[in-house]
Amino acid sequence: MPDGVAPVEAARAGAAAAGRPRHVAIIMDGNGRWASARRLPRAAGHRAGVKAVRRTIEAAITSGVEWLTLYAFSSENWGRPAEEVADLTALLKHYLRHETAELHREGVRLRIIGDRDRFGPDITAEAARAERLTGANTRLNLVVALSYGARAEILAAARRLAAEAAAGGVDPASLGEAEFAARLTTADMPDPDLLIRTSGERRLSNFLLWQSAYAELLFVDTLWPDFGTAEFEAALAEFGRRERRFGGRPG
Ligand code: IPE
Ligand code: IPE
Ligand code: MG
Repeated sequence: MPDGVAPVEAARAGAAAAGRPRHVAIIMDGNGRWASARRLPRAAGHRAGVKAVRRTIEAAITSGVEWLTLYAFSSENWGRPAEEVADLTALLKHYLRHETAELHREGVRLRIIGDRDRFGPDITAEAARAERLTGANTRLNLVVALSYGARAEILAAARRLAAEAAAGGVDPASLGEAEFAARLTTADMPDPDLLIRTSGERRLSNFLLWQSAYAELLFVDTLWPDFGTAEFEAALAEFGRRERRFGGRPG
């Protein structure tokens, strides 16, 4: 598809039938502020954030969303104080070790994108085990973005294509959007239809920049640890009121 039109056509046809998003992506923000408001350490906010993750997965399953992508740790979050990074790494390890079985029982297929290896061999091993165990499930595709940065992802895809072209494997003139998207970490996923950010911040912070070209953006003031079924359903309802055009004429 060298002209680049077809992917958007496919999104228009396939996504969001009957005003319902097929893929919801969430920037889970506000754990630190939630903790500060309670005079608690930031780690307590992150622990409360894990509970919100559980509620959100349940809500996604109940509402029939096929794909849920959660931004859990950005490539820039490595710049936080070492103690907070250690707390987040420990929480992540605990989650993968103790919640994978429950995800599996629920029929959730887990997949991790981003540079997981930066968290160390324990996480690499737990992540591989979780992906293997849940790999055949079909009820919900849960994608967790860990040490993820969209610019690094796009750059890696560009590098791969450049290397393939230099080796004579691909002809640059024949490359289109589909060929590029196939080299991203999200290769076989649909693009997000709805992208939610909690905590009142209105930015993307290097999340799914390529994939969100036509996502509906929703910024809510709720801090992530307070997010749950009601907020998820309200977001779906808001999505249902949006008119998606994909650059075409008003419907
Ligand atoms: C989101 O909450 C979790 C991560 C980025 C890991 P924050 O930790 O960013 O919380 P705030 O934005 O400081 O309130
Ligand atoms: C974005 O939140 C990353 C995650 C939610 C994992 P941040 O709190 O790191 O983003 P900024 O620094 O406010 O842009
Ligand atoms: Mg934040």
